[in-house]
Parts: sequence; C-alpha cells; structure tokens
Amino acid sequence: MMTIKIKQWVSSLPEYIPGRTIEEIKRVYGLETVYKMASNENLYGPHPGIIEEVKKHLGSINYYPDSDCREIRQKISQVYKIPADMIIIGNGTDQIIEMACDSLIGPGENVVIADPTFLIYEKAALKCGGTAIKVPLSGYRHDIRKLAGAVDDKTRILFLTNPHNPTGTNINKDEFDYVKKNLRKDVLLVIDEAYYEYVPERQRINTEGMVSQSDNVLVLRTFSKIFGLAGLRIGYGIADKAVIAALNKVRLPFNINSIAQKAAVAALENRSYADEIREKIIREKEKFYSVLDNIKFFDKHTDLLEIFIHYRSEYKKDSTNLYHRHYAQGFKATEETIKQCIKKGLMKKIQPKALTNILIDLFYGMLFTTFFSAEKKPFKQKGKYLEEIILGNLLIKN
Ligand SMILES: Cc1ncc(COP(=O)(O)O)c(C=O)c1O
Repeated sequence: MMTIKIKQWVSSLPEYIPGRTIEEIKRVYGLETVYKMASNENLYGPHPGIIEEVKKHLGSINYYPDSDCREIRQKISQVYKIPADMIIIGNGTDQIIEMACDSLIGPGENVVIADPTFLIYEKAALKCGGTAIKVPLSGYRHDIRKLAGAVDDKTRILFLTNPHNPTGTNINKDEFDYVKKNLRKDVLLVIDEAYYEYVPERQRINTEGMVSQSDNVLVLRTFSKIFGLAGLRIGYGIADKAVIAALNKVRLPFNINSIAQKAAVAALENRSYADEIREKIIREKEKFYSVLDNIKFFDKHTDLLEIFIHYRSEYKKDSTNLYHRHYAQGFKATEETIKQCIKKGLMKKIQPKALTNILIDLFYGMLFTTFFSAEKKPFKQKGKYLEEIILGNLLIKN
C-alpha cells in the first residue's frame, strides 16, 4: 500500500477517462480501420498546407518555443481585431479553463455550470478546493435565468458553452444580454466557444464585442476541433488585459510547443478551410437526416452536426461503462452492417453502398455527440433498432 500522503482533494477528484487510442481499439476488436470521434475531433484532418508548415519547422525542435506565443497572438489579433495583450494561448483551452480557476477559485468558492456539460469546468474548480453549482439543462439548452440565479456570494465563475457540449444547442443573443445585465461584475463569465467555427458566420454571437465592453468576460476558442489540430494541443482565450495578465501569472512558461504555434498560424492563414469543412458537414447532415429519421436531431437549435440518441436511463447508472462500450470505441461501418439494416426493414430506399458512404462521410469530420438522456423516454421499435445498429453494430461489432 502506498504510504505517501496524497492531498484529500486530489484523492476525491473524479478521474477523466479519455477514449481508447485507435491502436488499442484495433487490437482489442481486431479492426483494420477505426475512426475515433470520442472528443469531437475533425476526422477530415487539418488543411494540407499545415502539414507542410509543420514539416518545415521540425528541424528547430531542439529550441524551446516562444513562451509568449507572439506570432500566433499577433495572428489572432489581426484576424479578430483584438489587441494582442487581450489574448492568451493555452495547451488546449482545457489549460485556460484551469488557469482561470487557478487564478480565481479558492477553498469554499464555486463555479456555476450547466448539467450535463464539459467535464473540465468542475474538475478545474475542485482542484482549487472549490465546488460546482450545477443547473440542469432545460430542453437540452442552458437555462440562462436559472444559471444566473444560481450565482451566489461565493461564485467566482459562470461557465457557458456555446454551442454546447454535449447537446449542440446554442445560446441566443437575448440570453447573453440577460446574463450580461444580471451577472455581478466580480464574477467572470467564461464563454467556451470550442465549436465556434461550426456555427455559420451570420448566426455567431459577437463575443469579441462583449469582451471589449466588459472586463469580466473570457472567451475560449480552440484549434482542436474544426481546424483539426487536436493532437498539437493549442487553444486561445480573449479577455480584458487585466484578466489575461492574471492568467499569465499562473501559466507555465513554454506551455505551447513550437510546432503547435506554427500550425495554428497556418490554420488561421487557411481559415476558409474551416468554412469548407462546416459546409461539407452540413450537407452530410442533411443526407443523414433523410435516412435515419428515428434518431432525434436538434437542428432547430444548432447548425452543428450532432446526433443525439435518446438512450435509456443507463447514463445515470453507468455512464463510464456506457461510454466505453459505445462511444469511446470508435466507428466502423461495413457494407454488411448496412445490409443488416436493410434486412431489418430500416433503410429500404437507399442502396447499401450509398448508405455506407453517407455514414462514413458523416462520421468523418462530424461532431458526434451522443446524448444519454437521464429520463426514460419511450422508444419506438424502429428507433430502438437504430439505436442498436448505430451504437451496437457500427461502433463495436464490425
Ligand atoms: C466544450 C469544450 N470546451 C473545451 C474543450 C477542450 O478543447 P481543447 O482541445 O482546446 O483543450 C472541448 C473538447 O472536447 C470541449 O468540448
């Protein structure tokens, strides 16, 4: 038994269970091809120009990177018209979430978050001796009034995720206005826009404007998702320069490797690629809608390509196991699977080959987020089959 003494709060932290690696899934299930989507990566990969750029700089990895990330901060500044001293770069936005909690949360203080939401907000708060006040989603959306109402005198951060993970829903302008009006000025409003580029431009909220008008707003964006650089770990935060200065104090030096910095610059230089990916995904989404009509989509609320599969109340009981069985294990569709679907009378109108292509296209580059409903929802028989096929056959058995 270990005799060294681990701090109490560390022992009680929940474990983050990442999806299995592609290699592991191949080995365990004897698969040749696996598309991993466990963290909503862009399976189309980055713009090809980025790979070239990365190769060019590999010869310099004997040097430490620029600790202040000047070039990428300048680039973000130029693209989004934000002064460079209002920008911080993180080893993924995860790290900026951590920096925000490290700088603001003390023992007994709290963050207010939606439930369910992205796991790291709570974890980062717990790590500082804080707690998370959780406000259930309402109709899969942030319940803005309740979130604002849950803020108490110990609250230091309110986290909003737009579009949301895991439900893909959007927060609208009126709701942001409500928060701005009703949130105490000493509470930091963190707007996590990890999926920002998946929202068509005309529908985006002007969060850069919110930052320039208020000193208590921190906007987070990442190169991990639509730009396809998840493996390099780079994201950025935009806030008032006093907030950025505080975050910089807790930031470790050299937190962003030199290759990631170069790749992110190249990603912004080729940012029309993000538009291409988004359009492609929207087109595939439409095809998918027309095929799998019993899966419930929430496209009324979002333009993200997300599928929400109403799942049994298993989520509550055993989410980790469920996650491992279905979601984290990757995906492979074979024509045989598709034939099975057709045999079961599910997909009569479409040729097996065509459907395979649609599914593969869809899963390529899409944001695939299963939403495990905590409530028991009646299933239509056909829907149940789909659930089995999508989650069972496609993800695991083939
Ligand atoms: C809502 C949300 N925020 C932040 C992140 C973290 O992204 P990054 O790779 O920049 O750390 C994710 C990744 O899954 C996410 O879904």
